[in-house]
Amino acid sequence: MLIKIAHSHPIRPSEITPESVYHGRRRFLLQIGAAAASVTLGGCEPPESGAVANTALASLKVTKKTELAGGENVTAYEDITHYNNFYEFGTTKEAPARNAGRLRTRPWSVVVDGECEAPGHVDLDELINPQVLEERIYRHRCVERWSMVAPWLGVPLAPVLRRFKPTSNAKYVAFYTLFDPRQMPETGRGVLNWPYREGLRIDEAMHPLAFLSVGLYGRVLPNQNGAPLRLTVPWKYGFKSIKSIVQITFTQWQPETSWNQLGPQEYGFYSNVNPAVDHPRWSQARERRLGELVMRKTLMFNGYPEVASLYSAMDLSTFF
Ligand code: MTE
Repeated sequence: MLIKIAHSHPIRPSEITPESVYHGRRRFLLQIGAAAASVTLGGCEPPESGAVANTALASLKVTKKTELAGGENVTAYEDITHYNNFYEFGTTKEAPARNAGRLRTRPWSVVVDGECEAPGHVDLDELINPQVLEERIYRHRCVERWSMVAPWLGVPLAPVLRRFKPTSNAKYVAFYTLFDPRQMPETGRGVLNWPYREGLRIDEAMHPLAFLSVGLYGRVLPNQNGAPLRLTVPWKYGFKSIKSIVQITFTQWQPETSWNQLGPQEYGFYSNVNPAVDHPRWSQARERRLGELVMRKTLMFNGYPEVASLYSAMDLSTFF
């Protein structure tokens, strides 16, 4: 995402790699006994034959898998992990994969505070427990018109939030990324108002599709995709899916968000995927799936009509 430079084509042909078929390429060991030992982030498994996942990243075991992308092909791991937006590590699509290695993802602490009765911390180890961890295959659509289908591993956001007992004043939830210029040298350039911040209305955050991801393609989340935990909000433009979260705050008022602060006319608070509401500098009617050459039609709410009731009383061209 760039505020000043318009892209006629978000993806250069040279960056497109062949589509890979995901199904049948992974193995998941679901035996609970083995899972307990292998779920720790420090562990490593030998490479799987034909696998493309980064074998330096530990496998994560899941108990539940849900396909939520209408059976569409899953995007190649190589594409999902080498065409990124993570401005703390650079503003090109290749920079995060190159630079995010310097991010230390353990120890990691996520503070939860604000309008809640039981402020505290998110326990990462609890999230990567194979008893609760699930795989969800979601569509993911960037405001810049590229999209993918990714198999995230994680947990629904709502039960995590409920643990902290939000009060009736909690109308919104604000999320903040780590801000550490020693690990994130690009933050010195002041491209965005750091730390990167995002927010959801509380009913959006509590929607069953809202997800906290800790893994990808059967393994721990690569740093460039937002390790150790990120939001995945599949019906919204990708910039709502904030990476490397260190703080979650329940608020009474709509929180400020990084991209909206930078360009309020271009990046709204809601940012629901909507082919009928154009970005001021480009149409949102079509998108390019990573690994494909021909653009495809963008789907309302990115193909998740079950969220429409959240916005039934709203004019989505005003609240874009
Ligand atoms: N989170 C942080 N902290 N910093 C960022 O620059 N970029 C956002 C979002 N989360 C971003 C972020 C944008 S613009 C997109 S499209 C998605 O991350 C990209 O996620 P991906 O790289 O895993 O595809």
